[in-house]
Amino acid sequence: MILSSKNIHDLIDARQEGFSLERPFYEDDKIFKRDMEKLVGERWVLADHASRIPNVGDYFLFEIGKESIIVIRSTTSKIEAFFNVCRHRGSQLCSEAQGNKKRLTCPYHAWTYQLDGTLRPPPQMPQEFDPSLFSLHACHIKEFNGFVFLCLSKGTPPDFEEEYGGFSETLNFHGFKNAKVAARRQYPNACNWKLVVENFLECYHCAPAHAEYCSVHSRDQLLALGAGPGSGSEAAVAKYQPIVDAWNTKAKSLGHPTSMIDRDETSLDMAQLVRLPVNDRDYQSETKDGHPASKILMGQFKTFDNGITSISFNPLGYVLASNDFAMVARFTPRTATETDIEVLWLVDETAVEGEDYDVENLMWVWDVTIKQDKIITEANYAGIKSSRYQPGPYSTQEARVETFIKWYINGIR
Ligand code: FES
Ligand SMILES: [Fe+2]
Repeated sequence: MILSSKNIHDLIDARQEGFSLERPFYEDDKIFKRDMEKLVGERWVLADHASRIPNVGDYFLFEIGKESIIVIRSTTSKIEAFFNVCRHRGSQLCSEAQGNKKRLTCPYHAWTYQLDGTLRPPPQMPQEFDPSLFSLHACHIKEFNGFVFLCLSKGTPPDFEEEYGGFSETLNFHGFKNAKVAARRQYPNACNWKLVVENFLECYHCAPAHAEYCSVHSRDQLLALGAGPGSGSEAAVAKYQPIVDAWNTKAKSLGHPTSMIDRDETSLDMAQLVRLPVNDRDYQSETKDGHPASKILMGQFKTFDNGITSISFNPLGYVLASNDFAMVARFTPRTATETDIEVLWLVDETAVEGEDYDVENLMWVWDVTIKQDKIITEANYAGIKSSRYQPGPYSTQEARVETFIKWYINGIR
């Protein structure tokens, strides 16, 4: 079926509450275009950690949908972002995923731009040509507690402070600004970004799919909060709450942050920030055996509080931080049926690999879990392609998926 915008509106209006979406939402190019224009392109998206580009001229490419963005350190204190499109006839300027450039020279006819995006006067242009009118197209960029965010919007981006100002105290406590990337891994996923997000926002699949993740957490915890606040049933939350309350009291007594942010489907970003105990078995860190992943605590932690900070900037960007390391996950839509998943593991910038931390141990929980997620989400899409697929009903453990779908429908309407 080729969808017209009327068909899309009909599909949006026909969405049945408490059920998964109709097939076109998971594979139709027109709907994907709409997702990118109305929703993803109008939000701040988490791109990377600033430590990836420490020196002037260091850059990396951030590829999202059809866009390629050059994120480059233009001065010691400034990172800029430009669309990877030459202002002459449109060639891409950079093709390597990362590198260092003194200036950006187009491979086609050698138009050359300074690191601030301004064009140097090219040869053999007519006399009236004004290079100042042909700077690179800038992309909105915000550096925040060590993280780099981009917004593709042609207009004014959402007010960053209004969205995320309330996150600063906890992010600062974790010392993400003084972190380094100990490891990164890509998990290209052959399905629509919404299937990746839906899967990340429920823990109904944890018991059948994630033996390792379940060995680190307790059953009651996963039933109540396995995919964050709002992901489990009220009964499961009530049962687990005393453990959370006791942990909160302990964290407060240590002077550690315990604040909670939880925005619903009517908000811009569905943002969440919550601190919880790793489990109820004295695990200091989210590792195989609960022992620390790094000898160096991050930020302002002086002692382990056995907590984990779970942050969702929006459905595409997450940080799950123990006291000594953090995993950062970004889900980046590429096409209607392809999503880039990248995970970074952060430690304190002074921690030394092999001495203070072991990379395998650091990555273990989430590397094995995300690999399993790739298999189940791709199988999910394979089934959705069948003529017999029809939207199916959510369990009480998939409440946050319903919140996400409502947020999504609000966003593209
Ligand atoms: S397209 Fe870049 S110089 Fe011609
Ligand atoms: Fe999972």
